[in-house]
Amino acid sequence: MVIKEMGGKPMKAMAVFAFCIEYIKDKVVERLRQAIHGLDDDDIHWVVTVPAIWNDQARQFMIEASEKANIGKDNLTLALEPEGAAMYCKYLAMDKKERGDETELKAFDENARFMVIDLGGGTIDITVSEVLATGQLREIYNATGGPWGGNYINDQIIKTLKEVIGWSVMGRFKSDDFDEYLELLRDVEQRKRSVKHNSEFSLKISKDLQRKIEIPDSHKKDVQKEKKSIKLSASLMKKIFSSSVDSMMKHVEGLLEKTETHGVSTILLVGGYAASDFVQRAFREKFHKKYRIIFPLTPDMIVLKGAVITGQLVEAIVGRMAKYHYGFGLSTEAVSGRIISIGEGGEKTFFPLIKKGQKIKVGDVVTEYEVVLKAKSKWANLEVYITEEDEPRNVIDEEHFTKVGSINVKLPKFKKESILVLTISYDETEFNVVATDRNTGRCFVGNCRFLDKDINLKSD
Ligand SMILES: Nc1ncnc2c1ncn2[C@@H]1O[C@H](COP(=O)(O)OP(=O)(O)OP(=O)(O)O)[C@@H](O)[C@H]1O
Ligand SMILES: [Mg+2]
Repeated sequence: MVIKEMGGKPMKAMAVFAFCIEYIKDKVVERLRQAIHGLDDDDIHWVVTVPAIWNDQARQFMIEASEKANIGKDNLTLALEPEGAAMYCKYLAMDKKERGDETELKAFDENARFMVIDLGGGTIDITVSEVLATGQLREIYNATGGPWGGNYINDQIIKTLKEVIGWSVMGRFKSDDFDEYLELLRDVEQRKRSVKHNSEFSLKISKDLQRKIEIPDSHKKDVQKEKKSIKLSASLMKKIFSSSVDSMMKHVEGLLEKTETHGVSTILLVGGYAASDFVQRAFREKFHKKYRIIFPLTPDMIVLKGAVITGQLVEAIVGRMAKYHYGFGLSTEAVSGRIISIGEGGEKTFFPLIKKGQKIKVGDVVTEYEVVLKAKSKWANLEVYITEEDEPRNVIDEEHFTKVGSINVKLPKFKKESILVLTISYDETEFNVVATDRNTGRCFVGNCRFLDKDINLKSD
């Protein structure tokens, strides 16, 4: 829970994380307010991404840090980074499909299996996912790669510089002129990004440092001192990149041989380090014959964009289709239009509410009805039935219908008639039916679980 700042001073991790989140949040809100007039804090839902391997404690830590940064739990979703990447890639139109004379771009097919390799600064994380019929993603294999991320290259370059310039000289340079030292690190990062297969690496060096350089024999072949800079040879750069890329290739190869990953057809490379020419070459060379390899245009933005998509899905997850017809089973004396008179006993009529094949979204109100309910007794029991038939019959029988739930509605004492507004909403595993009495405002809640077909009654 304690981390050290660059100068070595211990600080509370929570304070640092909360500060960083709040800083980013304020910047984003400030920018959004320029674009959207009257934006409230509550209008924004925040998604914080975390590595898949994090445990519950670490996640809880992020939730608390976000709360300290004034992002309430209600407005917060934690998303797993590889899931975000996979989600984005699912939405990428990257499959070329022939249609007559024309070709069109489309996203993954149902059951497609793909590997996402997230090449970040610190680590390389690998997951394998499958596209389900519902359009959702299922993770079929989760493996963390290893510490061969992009920062490893910088470390190796700095290590070489230290060997050439001298560890103590570099140490003094760092403590005497920290700004200058940071500038050097930034320069390493910047120049590293454009290193290509076969290109040399040259770095501007201050005059002061330049004077102190005496290239040792061991490095004469690969390092040269120039007027204002120091140059590393292409073969040395290749060696440095290979130390990371080779380990990563070996690891991926091993994973693709596992039974769990059978059927993988596509490899997606995301994360900043996926932009490296060395990485791209290595993957193309090794895997292009058997797999489709995809490097998105802005690899460092993919997790972020996927997280935004995931955030949108919190409210309205992938559309699904109703598997059955849903409706009330009523012992009616008469159903005319929206007027239902409930009788006792006798056969039950099916009063359809949701059609089979109708598109439904999690959390959405599926349908809204207004019915006039008349009954002889104080309580009316509305039973919910499902049927699988394409065209539902009128009369309910055991063979074709299954009871999945019910709502008890209390009718006003004297009139025994109510105007009910029925709202039906759908969440992950069940339909919720709410009947609101328009006159009394009283709500009756029933729900039907269509998974275990349990009857669950919550009245009032
Ligand atoms: N063109 C490039 N060539 C080589 N490396 C690059 C290039 N562009 C970015 N990188 C490297 O990618 C890394 C950053 O990637 P990314 O933004 O995905 O990391 P991160 O998500 O912050 O890190 P992590 O996932 O490890 O927490 C850095 O090490 C950076 O040097
Ligand atoms: Mg990352």
